[in-house]
Amino acid sequence: MSCVVLIGFMGVGKSVVGSALAGKLSWPFLDTDEIVEEQAGIPISTLFEERGEPAFRKLESEAIAIALTEDPSVISLGGGAPTQASNWDLLRKIQAFVVWLDAPVEIIVDRIGTAGSRPLLAGLDQESRNAKIVDMLAVRRSSYEMANLRFFTDNTASPMEWAARLASDLEHLKATA
Ligand code: S3P
Repeated sequence: MSCVVLIGFMGVGKSVVGSALAGKLSWPFLDTDEIVEEQAGIPISTLFEERGEPAFRKLESEAIAIALTEDPSVISLGGGAPTQASNWDLLRKIQAFVVWLDAPVEIIVDRIGTAGSRPLLAGLDQESRNAKIVDMLAVRRSSYEMANLRFFTDNTASPMEWAARLASDLEHLKATA
């Protein structure tokens, strides 16, 4: 278990829990959204606007391949990455340990807020945005279920505390593997 990859819907806290987990393990933390922005030289929202989602998905797959060369590491993927079968091929090839970070839908809706920086939800009023989140979660669920571990979070603990619990679950799984 030397690459731990966090997947899950927008707003579940992949980046914040992931970077705290990486700190606990003393491993590097990589975020594929950041790699895409570095490679493209523009923010993801601009990339969606100017070049469209397929161009983003292509860069996202490239970013995953780049991130997976860092071993060991904790890597956070964008919320839509697990819907692409080819991304799972990359993850399986290096036997990454994939964690689905999950949270109640109300928390996701609340955290996504006005969604200004989230291109797939931009320009929608609150009701339509919430409905779209529920639809997207339903469609993506089977992709998230392909993870090795589903890890629930909510607002009863801080990201640091979730990271500590996840690190301990991973340690336990490693010891019993
Ligand atoms: C997306 C999620 C975003 C980002 C892009 C598309 C998605 O990442 O990759 O806006 O399809 O769910 P986060 O999950 O980190 O917000």
